[in-house]
Amino acid sequence: MISRNTIDSVFETARVEEVIGEFVQLKKAGSNFKGLSPFSDERTPSFMVSPVKQIWKDFSTGKGGNVISFLMEHEHYSYPEAIRYLAKKYNIEIEETEQTDEQKQQADERESMFLVSEFARDYFQQILWEDEQGKAIGLTYFKERGFTDEIIRKFQLGYSLNEWDAFTNEALNKGYNLKYLESTGLTIVKQDLLSATGTKQFDRFKGRVMFPIHSMSGRVLGFGGRILGNDKKAAKYLNSPDSEIYHKSNILYGIYHAKQSIAKLDNCYLVEGYTDVISFHQSGIDNVVASSGTALTENQIRLINRLTKNITILFDGDAAGIRASLRGIDLILEQGMNVKVLSFPDGDDPDSFAKKVSTNELKEYLQNNAKDFINFKVSLLMKDAQDDPVKKAGLIRDIVVSISKIPDRIQQEVYIQECSRIMSISEEVLFNELAQLDKKEQREASKKPVAKLAPKLQKTSQAKEIDELKKYEREIIKILLLYGNKEVEFIDYVTNDEATAEPETQPLKKVKFTNVISREIYLNLQDDEVEFTDENFKQIYYEIIHQLNQEKAVIVDAFVNHPNIEIANMVTNILMDDEKHSLSNWEKKDIIVKSKESVLSKMVLDAIYNLRRVLIEQKIKALISEIEKEEQREQVLETVVNYTGLKQRLFERLNRVI
Ligand code: CTP
Ligand code: MN
Repeated sequence: MISRNTIDSVFETARVEEVIGEFVQLKKAGSNFKGLSPFSDERTPSFMVSPVKQIWKDFSTGKGGNVISFLMEHEHYSYPEAIRYLAKKYNIEIEETEQTDEQKQQADERESMFLVSEFARDYFQQILWEDEQGKAIGLTYFKERGFTDEIIRKFQLGYSLNEWDAFTNEALNKGYNLKYLESTGLTIVKQDLLSATGTKQFDRFKGRVMFPIHSMSGRVLGFGGRILGNDKKAAKYLNSPDSEIYHKSNILYGIYHAKQSIAKLDNCYLVEGYTDVISFHQSGIDNVVASSGTALTENQIRLINRLTKNITILFDGDAAGIRASLRGIDLILEQGMNVKVLSFPDGDDPDSFAKKVSTNELKEYLQNNAKDFINFKVSLLMKDAQDDPVKKAGLIRDIVVSISKIPDRIQQEVYIQECSRIMSISEEVLFNELAQLDKKEQREASKKPVAKLAPKLQKTSQAKEIDELKKYEREIIKILLLYGNKEVEFIDYVTNDEATAEPETQPLKKVKFTNVISREIYLNLQDDEVEFTDENFKQIYYEIIHQLNQEKAVIVDAFVNHPNIEIANMVTNILMDDEKHSLSNWEKKDIIVKSKESVLSKMVLDAIYNLRRVLIEQKIKALISEIEKEEQREQVLETVVNYTGLKQRLFERLNRVI
């Protein structure tokens, strides 16, 4: 783990405008910077960076946060990866916190495996470009396949000499431990009673061209090696075995080189093989990854789902392969993603097709031939089932199963209508089939400990109330963050003596007093024992109160750089609310902010009273529903009357303040 100290000094040193400036062209605009959103294609800038607050906001997509969350969004780094990136940029030494021996050993082991893999990548590349055999066999092979120097370097392709242990010996000479050469699978160790050590070792990838497989952040996890020539006995591709660092089912080939463009173009092309990915890049299409010839797993889909909701699956020309993979696609639908499919002319795979046509023709082909998955499946299977009623019935069930996987009800309905049209079957039949599947799923779900909740089309009134509460909770947090340390004059209306038996009958009296805003809010909420319903707001609120008690002030920076990235993002979003208007009209900014400060006292009290009002309304509602069953009706009724009086009083106050 990176120590808190290191994280703090990274935050102290890093300048959000410098870091983002490396990815986005920023122009000074008042006290802020603005630029074109790196997350969408736009012509007028809606991306803003505040050097004062050290935060950024993209108004075109709603994303925003601190310097770390920018790197997480844009580079798709994990939190520690982002910290490490910044530490490197600003020459900050990384201090690791104490780990248990076991943790340390495991981290060391993984790190050693990465280092061996990265050495292997460099070695194979060097052989490809500099060694006589490498150039004559490996490089020539790639050139014959039409790969340019640039693309060969981009994907760090290499060559492993056609010798038993050339690589292993070189690695051992360089001081790498045989243990890690073996655990990464680069070296195969076998027993050999004749040798002095009792074992012998040889290179797994002997005589193959090498494709390094990168993690999301660009580290080498493993390799694919392709045999040269047409030896029918040996496997065409050999892959690193699963290991501590390489899990074939969790990674997609090309994800590192594709991630930015997938997010930006909001679509991901899925192909089968290494060479499909590389050829597409050479043709200028970067948003492409490969499943490496196996069925997609849930984890792989999740990897894409982080970047986009849209996936386009590219099939080779043969129909058998397409039918085989149809079922796997339901997995993608289940994750709420939109699936399109596209097939190439018979005999072509994405790689060979990309080589045949120009970049523009390829782009056009992808544009014009992508079909919605459900429609595609229906048309394909309809061909099989044309005149066979039994087959057709099976097909209907099959399609409806796919549709039932889609979490969005409206989309389900649209598909049912589509299918009814294409298959000439009434919508009613299809809906019935769907309902039956739903019922079955519900029965199964209720047996499981955690039941899957069907998404609701409409918000319940309860959900609306929670939204209203959150609105005022957010408002209070916003006031605390923006103005918490300000002292203002409050004007309030109170009864002469809140402790009298019947406060409702007392006239309201106007009082004036000054207080620091955060104190005033704290006192009010404490009085009412108000608890925030939103977990993040609750935590922010408690931390603010803690700051107040310890430091006598609200320290906003602590939230902008909060270790909980969700909280950091929430806070920066709140802080940037206020800057939005300045994007279009910078001069007006001062005026608006000034006039805001003059009504601060009203803003504070309104927010508190509104929050109380919603809470009371909820209480009344709950009591009324109780009345219907309760025996002590009178008592409950009285409580309702009391609360209603209180509510009335709050309304009065809300209307009278200022
Ligand atoms: N694959 C594999 N092991 C094999 C065959 C295939 O891991 N024995 C994986 C590889 O990732 C390969 C993908 O499946 O890229 C697709 O296989 P295939 O279509 O046979 O290979 P191509 O990518 O077309 O390879 P090439 O063009 O080099 O023949
Ligand atoms: Mn191929």
